Parts: sequence; C-alpha cells; structure tokens
Amino acid sequence: MSDAKLQSVLSALSEVPRQLNALPSSKAPDAGCIKLNTNENPFALPAVVMQSAIAALERQYLYPENDNISLREAAALTYDLSRDQVIAGNGSSELLGLIYRAFLAPGDTVAMVSPGFSFNRKLALLQGADFLEIGWGEIHSLLSKQLLLGPAKDAKFILLANPNNPTGTFIPIADIELLVAQSDRLIVLDEAYVDFAPDDALRLVKRHANLLLLRTFSKSYAAAGIRVGLGFGHPEVIGRLRNIQNVFNMNVIGHAVGVSILSNRSAYDENHKQIKYERQRVSAALSQFGFTVTPSHANFLLARVPAGRDSVWWQASLERKKILIAVFPDRGLEYSIRVSIGTKAQMDAFLAAVSDIMGAEDLEGRP
Ligand SMILES: Cc1ncc(COP(=O)(O)O)c(C=O)c1O
Repeated sequence: MSDAKLQSVLSALSEVPRQLNALPSSKAPDAGCIKLNTNENPFALPAVVMQSAIAALERQYLYPENDNISLREAAALTYDLSRDQVIAGNGSSELLGLIYRAFLAPGDTVAMVSPGFSFNRKLALLQGADFLEIGWGEIHSLLSKQLLLGPAKDAKFILLANPNNPTGTFIPIADIELLVAQSDRLIVLDEAYVDFAPDDALRLVKRHANLLLLRTFSKSYAAAGIRVGLGFGHPEVIGRLRNIQNVFNMNVIGHAVGVSILSNRSAYDENHKQIKYERQRVSAALSQFGFTVTPSHANFLLARVPAGRDSVWWQASLERKKILIAVFPDRGLEYSIRVSIGTKAQMDAFLAAVSDIMGAEDLEGRP
C-alpha cells in the first residue's frame, strides 16, 4: 500500500485508539525473569482445581455454556446471592469494560478514587467520558459527604478498589458503607485483592442496590492466566451488563476452574498465609534498606525508594538483575515502586538484588 493511501485509510479511522498509545514498545519479558510487576499469585493450583481444568479440555470441541450459568449458580450458592445478582467475566477487567460501555455515553463523567487501577482511565477515554480523579485523603475526611455531592456529584458512577491498587491500603467496610449509603450514584467497588485483607463488603450487596462489587480469581486464587472474574449487584444493574456481554465470553476451562475454586476455597488458606507472611518479611527488610513502605492489605507492596534515585532507575536496575517490578512515573508516584509478593525464593532473590544495588551505589559514593 502506498504511503498516501495508508495515510488516507488511517485518517478515516477514529483517533481514540491512537490517543491511548497502548501498544507496548518493549519486548516480551525474558522467560528467566522473576515477575513481580502484575500481582499474580505464583503458587500452583490445588490438585483438585488442576484436575477440573484438565477434564474440561475434553470438552474443547463444544462451545462453552452460554451466559455462564453453572459458574454464576455456583457463585450465588457460595456467596448466598441469587443467580440474577451474579455476572461472570473473562477476568474482572472484562466486567470493568462492560460497566464503562453500559453506563457511560460520550461526554459523561466517571469518578475514580485515585491513585487507582490505571486501566480505568483507558476505559473512560475509550468511551469518550471525562475521568475525574478524587484523592483518597478526601474520601477519608469527614467531608466525604460534601465530596460526593461536590466534584463527583455528576459522575455516572464512582469507582474505588479496596484494598486499593497501587497503594495496598484498605478502608474499613463501615466507611465504605457510609459512602454507598450517602451516594445516590452507582458505586463500583473493586475487591480484586480482598482475600489478603481483614474484611470484605459482600454483605453490603444485599443492603444497597447502588453497590456493584467486583472480584477476580487472578490474584488470590492463582488463576490469572485462566481469566475468571465475578460481579455482584442488584439484578437490574447486573442484567444490564449481561445484556451487552459477548456470547461465549468465557471458555470451558475458565468455567470448570471457576466452579472448582468456589468449592475448594479452603485449599488456598496456606497460600494466603504464606503471602501475608512474605509481605510482612519483605516490608520489614525494605524498611531496613531505607525504603518507606505503605502498610499493605494486598499481595504487593508500594515502597518509596531511598533518596537519590527515582522509581524508573530502580526498575531498570532490578530488570538488569532479571527482576520485574511496576512503576507509575506519571501519577505523583515518581519515587515509588510496586512489588508483587511471590514465593519465598522469589522474594529472597528480590531482596538480594536490592541489597546488591544499594551496595554498588555505596561503592560509587552516591547517596
Ligand atoms: C484493582 C484491580 N482490578 C482488576 C484487575 C483485573 O484483574 P483480572 O482482569 O485479571 O481479573 C486488576 C489487575 O491487576 C486490579 O489490580
């Protein structure tokens, strides 16, 4: 195709995907790297869950069940809800995408408590919506009522994650309930990391029609690659999302693993115990190295790096040692790194790399 023709084809297309600038320019991660950048849970699936995945492969020639009925029924039974109060997704990010498409038109406003999960900004942009970020400090303040009636009063819905990503902080459920009760908007509460936290908001779903709760099996149930997400809310809200969902949105393995995890949740107790133990150990070790660690209720730590270097420098230094971590240079977090909590061996390697990097810095006489 000639350059001129390509330009003509491209200029006829919508500009939105170009603005998103989402295409990664970097290479695929080296298989030898320790991945501590996307908050996966590195433990194996419990044997019984793995068996269900293998058995599901024998049904590979069939389309998966439509509308995810068995998975939704299993979730309803597990969480004491009705099937109409449950939606299942190909990961909770599919459900987030549905929420933006179903409830926002171009020019609408959506509010997110910030810093939060950055994928939301992209979804708002795709929808042509204004993305309003509200600081966590304001939410905690006694003025939360004025806040919700103030900047966010015109938002179609308000989104917050508890525990929050990337901070790992946790808001007591009583405070969440106050917010939901005070707001006349839909509150989307993303509980992706809730199994690492002291409490959850499931009980509020029955009490408040304006609460939409999201869960995922990617973090606490070690199934990020299988893609299972759940949403709980009022049947009318859930129904509107199901109406616009793709047919056959999940696959047979996701269905089988989702159902199996729901009936074997206690098989993960040891996994969660280990992650919480490592979280504490790594947090203490990083503090010793001069990092300032935000107390975390998730499977990751947000840590402000010692003076003298920024987060991007730390990311590059760790990557040279084959350890991947996350940074957020554009969000007021220029000096913070986010590190997922992995196995003991992975965290030992991470701490050894940090120690090496700090030692090399000292040798060069830098602060
Ligand atoms: C707060 C939050 N919500 C949702 C997701 C998406 O999870 P998944 O699509 O794997 O269910 C993530 C992933 O990192 C997250 O951090």
